[in-house]
Amino acid sequence: MTTDAAGTVRVALIGSGRMGAYHGETLSRRVPGARLVAVADPAPGAAERLAGALGADRAYTDPVQVWADPDVDAVVIAAPARFHADLVVAAAGAGKGVFCEKPMAMTLLEADRAIEAARAAGVVLQVGFNRRFAADWTAARALLDAGRLGTPRLLRSVTRDPGGFDPSRVAPDTIFRETLIHDFDTLRFLNPGAEAVEVFATADALVEPGWRDRGLLDTAVVVVRFDNGARAVAEACFEASYGYDVRGEVLGSGGMVTMGDGRRTGMVWSGPEGRAVETVRGDQELFPDAYTAELAAFVGAVRSGTPALVTGADARAALAIALAAAGSVRIGRPVRLDEVPA
Ligand SMILES: NC(=O)c1ccc[n+]([C@@H]2O[C@H](COP(=O)([O-])OP(=O)(O)OC[C@H]3O[C@@H](n4cnc5c(N)ncnc54)[C@H](O)[C@@H]3O)[C@@H](O)[C@H]2O)c1
Repeated sequence: MTTDAAGTVRVALIGSGRMGAYHGETLSRRVPGARLVAVADPAPGAAERLAGALGADRAYTDPVQVWADPDVDAVVIAAPARFHADLVVAAAGAGKGVFCEKPMAMTLLEADRAIEAARAAGVVLQVGFNRRFAADWTAARALLDAGRLGTPRLLRSVTRDPGGFDPSRVAPDTIFRETLIHDFDTLRFLNPGAEAVEVFATADALVEPGWRDRGLLDTAVVVVRFDNGARAVAEACFEASYGYDVRGEVLGSGGMVTMGDGRRTGMVWSGPEGRAVETVRGDQELFPDAYTAELAAFVGAVRSGTPALVTGADARAALAIALAAAGSVRIGRPVRLDEVPA
């Protein structure tokens, strides 16, 4: 079964932290045709708290209980990244449709295992690249598909987080595998049909210089060469004093398109010092519609048995660029995608 008798997709949430709680709220309040029926989280009391707040029937302390629950059609995985691939494999093996937050895997081998598990089980596997569902990015892709931008030549994708991160929760590759992975996916999305062939990256600890010795990187620039000749730049920094800033640009043979302007509203304040706009302060403030649209698309795919709009293969391709970028920083030269270890 991929739904209950009434056609509702019954979803269990795996991981109830910052992103999981938001996805849980989206599923229970903003996605017609979905019902949040269970929450699983090993942290004491965490699943019970969120399930209680959102009206989910069941709270589990182990995802294994979800696999065994016949009244769960699909899962949304928002556990820490290092658990994702195993959770995807187990959920698919239990016949559940799978939405997995990015990154879907930490290595290419893990990614292949996850993709194969979903294929073998015949279940939907969608990955949390929410920017593909954000209005500016969707509109840019529509222009590309209509041929209005011609052939992409230069692309750009920028992510600046608002700061306040806990360095002890960040690993050396986090900026590539968890942050810039969104940008790498966006660059592929906006250069349809092309794949990255070479990556050159430079990165440093500029926000938290005290953590440089431990290899924590919080500021990075990545140049990507695609097989259609297009060049792209992705850049990220874990702290921007003015908020959460995500932007993109494509210059094609037929014109240019830009996405995102960091504004919270269209309001412009004018006063004695000049003019000012309000900026967005966080991901859930910038992308509420995209987070809803990606889960609505997932639920729709599970119900109809149609392929996901963002696939395991997309997750693997973005991960390969992330791993190449991390490798490039380590060895100080460009890295070809076919050099990335499995
Ligand atoms: N798409 C986006 O824009 C976006 C934004 C933020 C986070 N994320 C992703 O969401 C994921 C979660 O991030 P977060 O910020 O919510 O982290 P978090 O640390 O706030 O929450 C993780 C939760 O998972 C639980 N957990 C740990 N091990 C588990 C397991 N084996 N099974 C189930 N639950 C487990 C923890 O107890 C915790 O409650 C990460 O992969 C992150 O990259 C995506």
